[in-house]
Amino acid sequence: MRMVDLIVKKRDGHELTDEEIRFWINGYVKGEIPDYQSSAMQMAILFRGMSHREVSTLTDCMEHSGEVLDLSMLRGIKVDKHSTGGVGDKTTLVLGPMVAACGATIAKLSGRGLGHTGGTLDKLESIPGLSIAISGQRFVDQVNNIGIAVAGQTASLVPADKKMYALRDVTGTVESIPLIAASVMSKKLASGSDAILLDVTVGEGAFMKNMDDARELANIMVQIGNRLGRDTRAVLSDMSEPLGLAVGNSLEVKEAIDALHGHGPKDLMELCFTAGAIMLVQAKCAKTKEEARKKLEEVIANGEAFNKFVQMVEAQGGDVSYILHPEKFEVSKNAIEIRAEEDAYIKAIDALEIGESSMRLGGGRATLEDVIDMSAGIVLAKKVGDFVKKGDLLCTVYTNKDKAAYLPVLEDIKHAYVFSKEHVEHVTVIKETIEM
Ligand code: URA
Repeated sequence: MRMVDLIVKKRDGHELTDEEIRFWINGYVKGEIPDYQSSAMQMAILFRGMSHREVSTLTDCMEHSGEVLDLSMLRGIKVDKHSTGGVGDKTTLVLGPMVAACGATIAKLSGRGLGHTGGTLDKLESIPGLSIAISGQRFVDQVNNIGIAVAGQTASLVPADKKMYALRDVTGTVESIPLIAASVMSKKLASGSDAILLDVTVGEGAFMKNMDDARELANIMVQIGNRLGRDTRAVLSDMSEPLGLAVGNSLEVKEAIDALHGHGPKDLMELCFTAGAIMLVQAKCAKTKEEARKKLEEVIANGEAFNKFVQMVEAQGGDVSYILHPEKFEVSKNAIEIRAEEDAYIKAIDALEIGESSMRLGGGRATLEDVIDMSAGIVLAKKVGDFVKKGDLLCTVYTNKDKAAYLPVLEDIKHAYVFSKEHVEHVTVIKETIEM
């Protein structure tokens, strides 16, 4: 078999056989197939797509390209959650403790942010002392003791995705439905949970820009998971504007703490209650979503969800005093306010623009080697659908960069806003749920 023949076959719109997909992935992981042939194949897939059978086989080959975790020694039904990425997405920090406080088992492996999207691991690492490098017995013990652990993926898990994602990132092939589906599901399947809740984001700040694509991606992933015996369900959530108000690592941790105290922004809480209710049903901690939602509301009101977060931070070596007194988090030396220049409704706040701006303020990485400024980012004061008067605060920009570096970013942030004299509705965060 020759790789060039497989590239030509896919380029011309034909289906690859299981053997051909296996030949590509095995050869690529072993270093026998070079990056340039793999990227040509990924570009051919981006244009030509893949059948469900091809995506299933690709997922299976990627999942088994490295270690596969066995979580059977953990008590209870293990539920995992994965978001396809967004701006201001601190859902795991709020949803994880909420669901664990209701009795479900969360053994979660999370990722880092890249480009305009943030990552849970970076957010957690903004808590001084907290380690995401917990593996093996320590990970198992923590989950058994407190019901939740959020750790970084080890290098031995799904090495094919590591290589393929890095290549996709620099060859314009991230936004391919089959490649995203195989990337997400290979990691979720290899990390061993019994049930999976996928949060497929849609809008400017997400990889899926429209509902048709988001629905197709969600359906493929749900089918792959269910076919392999994992209870897999999905929510489609809005990512046209940032989720919640805070964008940037420690800023988002502070917002997550507020949310766990019951003072979270409406869209973030709605996503947590909807996704959390499905996860509790999957974990058999509730019979119906209505019963589950009540339990979730209770653990927010009685402080158990917050306490679970405190326990998790403590177990992972973090300084709990920051969670109890969030004012201890370092604040950037520059806090610049952007104010409305007219009386109007806010029609749009471009999540992609806000995410990229936060990154340029120091809050994200352009390459994996970049060091993040944990205090940098943007805190919105208003959301789409709000009415502002001239002079009202739109957002506050936090950065340690000097003026010459941050001034152009302020201009881009202003351009993220679209105003209207006409009434504008607030955005509905939950677009759809997919439960088969
Ligand atoms: N998240 C992933 O894990 N993989 C992708 O390809 C896109 C989003």
